[in-house]
Amino acid sequence: MERNEFIKSLGLGVAMVCTGACFSACGKKSDSPEPDKPNGGGIPSGTSAKVDLSTQLLTIGASMVVNSILFIRTAAGNTASSFVATQAACPHQGGALSFIQASNYIQCGLHSSRYTTSGSILAQPSDGGTTSALKIYPITIAGNILTATA
Ligand code: FES
Repeated sequence: MERNEFIKSLGLGVAMVCTGACFSACGKKSDSPEPDKPNGGGIPSGTSAKVDLSTQLLTIGASMVVNSILFIRTAAGNTASSFVATQAACPHQGGALSFIQASNYIQCGLHSSRYTTSGSILAQPSDGGTTSALKIYPITIAGNILTATA
């Protein structure tokens, strides 16, 4: 092989490697979340929130948001099964969720999607979009302190 031919073949090889690397990089999907679903309305894993049951959530149907977790008292007594802890932001586009005691469901203030207290979807968003089920967080109770951890 002549010197000129060798250099030309080397240049062609380098060009093929660079092109392949470019196509590979261009083909990757973005790691960023969908702009309209920041974290699916959820919160970072490991996030926890506490409620003092001696002064808060005293009556059935009472609800409150602490540290982006929506707490709902669903029954009498201070056992874990008397409460629900779920995300306070809607999975659709992050609207604020609240418990509607009279209807016994969770509703989004932005597009009116509705969920059961176990997180299932009762109604899709009014804007024609789709939502997903709510995350339900485990609860522990120690003394009067209720803790939910995402
Ligand atoms: S943000 Fe909740 S239904 Fe759209």
